[in-house]
Amino acid sequence: MLSEKSEWHALQTHRKEMEHIHMRDLFAQDPQRFQTFSLKHEGLLVDYSKHRITGETFALLMDLAKACDVESWRDRMFAGEKINATENRAVLHTALRAPSSETGIDSIHETLDRMKIFSDSVHDGSRKGHTGKAIKTVINIGIGGSDLGPRMVCEALAPYQDKNIAVRFVSNIDPSDMASALSRSDPETTLFIIASKSFTTQETMANAALARQWILENLKDENAIAKHFIAVSSNEQEATKFGIDPGNIFTFGDWVGGRYSLWSSVGLPICIAAGFENFRSLLDGAYIMDKHFREAPLSGNLPVILAMLGIWTRNFWDAQSHAILPYNHYLSLLPAFLQQLDMESNGKSIDRNGNEIDYETGPVIFGQPGTNGQHAFYQLIHQGTAVIPCDFIATLEGETQQHKTLLANMVAQSQALMQGRTSKEPHRCFEGNRPSTTILLPKLDPFHLGMLLALYEHKVFVQGLIWDINSFDQWGVELGKELTEDILAKDRNEADSSTEGILDYIRTHTGKHVV
Ligand code: F6P
Repeated sequence: MLSEKSEWHALQTHRKEMEHIHMRDLFAQDPQRFQTFSLKHEGLLVDYSKHRITGETFALLMDLAKACDVESWRDRMFAGEKINATENRAVLHTALRAPSSETGIDSIHETLDRMKIFSDSVHDGSRKGHTGKAIKTVINIGIGGSDLGPRMVCEALAPYQDKNIAVRFVSNIDPSDMASALSRSDPETTLFIIASKSFTTQETMANAALARQWILENLKDENAIAKHFIAVSSNEQEATKFGIDPGNIFTFGDWVGGRYSLWSSVGLPICIAAGFENFRSLLDGAYIMDKHFREAPLSGNLPVILAMLGIWTRNFWDAQSHAILPYNHYLSLLPAFLQQLDMESNGKSIDRNGNEIDYETGPVIFGQPGTNGQHAFYQLIHQGTAVIPCDFIATLEGETQQHKTLLANMVAQSQALMQGRTSKEPHRCFEGNRPSTTILLPKLDPFHLGMLLALYEHKVFVQGLIWDINSFDQWGVELGKELTEDILAKDRNEADSSTEGILDYIRTHTGKHVV
């Protein structure tokens, strides 16, 4: 077990030695600290000098990464071994962004070619609806990984968007989500993408049925379905059953996890919103990060470094949450995306051998763009009792004074967190010594966005390796799904008084028979 490893014990001892060391002093003692603890790669700068680390900490963290066989697990993942043991699946989202000469999986490039043809046909107006009008609105219906990734990237790449095509996302089973999207759409010019790896997800299937009904009510012809619906799925059979024309189904392998799927045909809305070339560039950026992750030594490996700093704060300084703070408004949805990536991957408490573990795993991920968050929850990060490591993420483009002010705000926040402030008045005292990482991208272009997302994917993977958990399954989500089905099917037998009480209240006050 991890907690029995000598490398783990060495870190525990070292943690005690670090107890009273302040980052302020570490910076004062070493003018080169930024150079020592920062790394540049393909235009990305990652500064991790504002962590409570010394050269010794760093070396001990790398020793732990070695002891946990990070390199061999990484190689097994890239080689397509079935490292997702509980689902008996390989984990090959990295193959989706590699050049064809490297993957040997023909279907990836055939699908990419089809995605290009399809998105081009929407852009040039040759893709028509049932009544012969060109498609103007695309509504992606999906949830979780079949929604968050493409939604976040479309938002991030909004400046690249074709202004003649509206791309919308519907995920929630609450019918108001769909109603809001439909109220702004014209059935004759709207195309639905039903995105679901399993093609059985309750929310997605319910929303797909609403969309189908809307098209039939308005266009009054069953043949319209073939023109207004396409599917993105690993389950071709179910998509065909729904009535989707087999020529309109874009498949991907079961070796692509839902939260890792934006690189697959799940990324079709990105191709439609920003154009296929920009989607390709997103894949290329991710591929460059994959290459770095595969080739760089552990101590110069960005995902490994971020992962190990997370282990340091989570397991040795009891940081129970982690803030994602993008200083670029187009990255507004990044915290939500990373929430699923990290929390669904590493929210586990059973190791790969099925044993209960005795150490902490994934933190709570939260965040929102700066400077908004500064006026909401940063107070707790500065002066609260909890340690909350922060990732400050910014892009350098933007000429105006307001852009400069934005960046100045970000730098000031990380400085204040590190430095703190002494004062005669206790309420004005900031302890400081609070850890943060700063990631700077030259520009929020598809390439660097791809690098950033792959950086986080691999970070999460490495942390899962250290914690000896399977980062690629999500069995915890299943129980809620099963109980919903039970409630709807009325065949629960042992309802507790709270559940019964709530259901009774709903029945009495709305007349709605949930059961
Ligand atoms: O929430 C659980 C989950 O299985 C996610 O992992 C997944 O991204 C989401 O549901 C949607 O699944 P599907 O793409 O199969 O509809």
